[in-house]
Amino acid sequence: MSGKAQRRRQQEKGQFWTPDWVAEAMVTWLLEDGGGPLFDPAVGNGAFFRAARRVARERQQTVLMQGMEIDPEVLMSGLDEEDRKFIRQGDFLLDPPPEALAAVVANPPYIRHHRIPETTKSRLRAKVRELTGLALDGRAGLHVYFFIRALTGLAPGGRLVFLLSADVCEGRFAASLWRWVAQHFRIAAVVTFAPEASPFPGVDVNPLLVFIQREAPAARLIWAVCRQAGTDGLRQWVASGFPPSGRQGTEEMPAGMTGWERDLSEALETGLSRPPALVRGGWIGPVLEHVAQVRRGVATGANGFFLLTDSQVKAFGIPEPYLKLAVGRVRDVPGDELTAEVMDWLRQRGRPAWLLSLGMEPVERYPEGLQQYLRLGEAAGLPRRPLLSCRRPWYRMEQREAPPVLFAYLGRRRSRFIRNRARVIPLTGFLGVYPRPGVDVEKLWQVLNHPETLAGLKWVGKSYGGGAIKVEPRALERLPLPWSALKAAGLTEGGREWRAASGEWRIASGSEASGEWRVEVHDSLLATHYSPSPAGKCGRSCAGPGRT
Ligand SMILES: C[S@@+](CC[C@H](N)C(=O)[O-])C[C@H]1O[C@@H](n2cnc3c(N)ncnc32)[C@H](O)[C@@H]1O
Repeated sequence: MSGKAQRRRQQEKGQFWTPDWVAEAMVTWLLEDGGGPLFDPAVGNGAFFRAARRVARERQQTVLMQGMEIDPEVLMSGLDEEDRKFIRQGDFLLDPPPEALAAVVANPPYIRHHRIPETTKSRLRAKVRELTGLALDGRAGLHVYFFIRALTGLAPGGRLVFLLSADVCEGRFAASLWRWVAQHFRIAAVVTFAPEASPFPGVDVNPLLVFIQREAPAARLIWAVCRQAGTDGLRQWVASGFPPSGRQGTEEMPAGMTGWERDLSEALETGLSRPPALVRGGWIGPVLEHVAQVRRGVATGANGFFLLTDSQVKAFGIPEPYLKLAVGRVRDVPGDELTAEVMDWLRQRGRPAWLLSLGMEPVERYPEGLQQYLRLGEAAGLPRRPLLSCRRPWYRMEQREAPPVLFAYLGRRRSRFIRNRARVIPLTGFLGVYPRPGVDVEKLWQVLNHPETLAGLKWVGKSYGGGAIKVEPRALERLPLPWSALKAAGLTEGGREWRAASGEWRIASGSEASGEWRVEVHDSLLATHYSPSPAGKCGRSCAGPGRT
């Protein structure tokens, strides 16, 4: 099968196979319990069947594997005749096993919501509501329904381990879903993967493992990061009962594993896919919103038409007043500064850099060449395109001031803040950061690109494969500005200090490091736009990193 055909099949059927080192760790936890058959609702080519057999043999245990699979074709590779006797061909969501399940292991089909037919989706949502009372948001993918269905089918005392994607903890539906899970089950452990240890290298998802029991909820859980792919570390860590690093000493931790014990309430507030943010109290330090506003870049509705090259501008003789310098692609900005020289360089290389920025005048009022260009757009059917069909006239462009700082996300390079010296209008590949009056732009830019500020993006953004993070404008406004970053930019002298009323709090930044993060803020940075909320009262000025 060609790479393209394989990708299409993966997207349509959600067929991503679990690597052995992850599958073995997952089944190990179920075999620890020992009771009852292991059920896989989405068998595929049988990664968990093979892993369970191997692990059980090593532990001198016997194991019975059962499962379901919708696609008969995949069952023919990787599984033998004996295994297939225990696999029912069918749809787990519409026709799950009637009996309660003692142990469930799954890597459910990762199928995004827009690929689920509307009729199927409404049936699935109705079933979820009937079983759990949850009104699941329509943006939940098929894997979310699998997770809920498997949980509701779990026998008392039963165990479930799922390989999920981070959107299950970060999507619109996440807060109510996890509240429900936490009320009815014990979340024993969560394992996330460093980008270099992803079970699915090169795939645009951020995977995680959840280990859950149908038992009384517990107030704490174990949360870990796995930093080494293809080793025994993860499996050993599971077999040792999820030790946190602190208690046993990091030297005793299995290779590549770091673990924390977390309060359930903090973990749910922050998001289970994210590192522990707040140990005590809420974040009452400054966030980006106090010193700047964030707006998304311009949505043209058809970049290929509205963003022009120099030669197009020349060919149609479009006069300058109708054009604005603009940037559409993150990879067109090689560094952290966007200067006039960079724009010249792009234009010389034939990159489109002129945004056709028109108002409400009728076509006939424009110069001849521009009229001709707009007619070409009409002939190509642009006025019927989704976004453009709502605009009057269809070629009317959104208006934006050029933001002094751009935020680039989901590019090939790391997320970064770009100083927009060329005063260019960004398109939707960027967010625009508009400092409030009185704020020193150069210093703010320095604060934003400080490693600790950038590390905070993971608390406000949604994570994808390879460490990529996508952040919505309102979420970026809640980005904490840490003391170390403000200090590095020379913004602490004579400053004001914010501290949690309950005492200092700590933040685990990135990996193992966990230090005190006091926050001092210079008056000039905050200008007059922020007055600290009284101790203990956390209003809008008290956006916690976890609230996205
Ligand atoms: C992500 S793959 C996982 C396969 C295997 N368990 C593994 O971990 O490597 C998910 C599998 O679920 C199957 N599947 C998709 N929709 C299903 C459904 N409604 N019921 C049962 N299986 C389904 C797909 O065909 C695919 O083989």
